[in-house]
Amino acid sequence: MLYKEELIKAAQEARKNAYVPYSKFAVGAALLGNNNKIYTGCNVENASYGLTICAERAAIFKAVSEGVTSFKALAIVTDLEVPASPCGACRQVIGEFSPDLEIIMANMKGNVHTVNLAELLPLSFSLHKNDKDN
Ligand code: THU
Repeated sequence: MLYKEELIKAAQEARKNAYVPYSKFAVGAALLGNNNKIYTGCNVENASYGLTICAERAAIFKAVSEGVTSFKALAIVTDLEVPASPCGACRQVIGEFSPDLEIIMANMKGNVHTVNLAELLPLSFSLHKNDKDN
């Protein structure tokens, strides 16, 4: 299976685990590491609403906590008519690791829109852009 389709399928599966008693808006994410492993995430809400974590950050933190910090692509799945793009906080967190990451936005109908993170977050803040080691 092509990696894009595989990532979308993994994000659809992860979306089933979304814990969304407050918004009822389920999001699934699947991140392809440079090691070719897929790290999934879903949104997890909290009664203290601001503590909610988005699906994209759940996937990134899962991968980083397993020692993987370089990525090839990220798929995000919602059931919106127009596939949803990641929120600003998630863009910043994704950019910490992969400023040019391929972002695959999909919905449950199979509509897909692919962009690059740099298009979603131009002139992003970074402390290591000018660092030769990064
Ligand atoms: N959400 C995500 O998981 N990813 C995004 O990029 C935007 C929003 C979640 C957070 C919350 O659980 C629900 O969607 C409604 O905002």
